Amino acid sequence: MVNVLFVCLGNICRSPMAEAVFRHLVEKENLTDKIHVDSAGTASWHEGKPPYEGTRKKLTELNITYGGMTARQLKEEDFTTFDYIIPMDDQNVKDIESSFATDSKDGVVIRKLMNFVPNPQEMNVPDPYYTGDFDYTYELVEEASTRLLKYIINKHNLKG
Ligand code: 4NP
Repeated sequence: MVNVLFVCLGNICRSPMAEAVFRHLVEKENLTDKIHVDSAGTASWHEGKPPYEGTRKKLTELNITYGGMTARQLKEEDFTTFDYIIPMDDQNVKDIESSFATDSKDGVVIRKLMNFVPNPQEMNVPDPYYTGDFDYTYELVEEASTRLLKYIINKHNLKG
């Protein structure tokens, strides 16, 4: 099993969007028994809450399910459970680096989502909690998630 965790600040806008979109792509590729997907926030503010309204609206519009998803905070154990920890922006990376011991991160790939896109138009996924633009964030998340899935399929020979 390849375990993938998307991380943002609140775990209500970007990382749940990425989780739902990525899971949808995994389902389309018939890889649900090979790839496990989750998301978490560096902050605990929204623990237990469902995705934010704008994220829910966008996912519903696209017929992408998010049922049962609730926010939680990133925890130490995630660095042993997950193979890929995928932050949305530089601040998430900094927060991960400052909050968790370096050796716990051995063997985990920690790489920003947009880094999976060649020549990306953005290096960080803009936070629609502040920009209000869930469409643009979705466009970026969709393109980068597609690339990430291709990367994982190749790397782990999942179609082999
Ligand atoms: P997210 O967006 O990190 O994409 O989930 C945010 C959600 C909530 C807050 C900040 C960012 N907040 O300040 O509550």
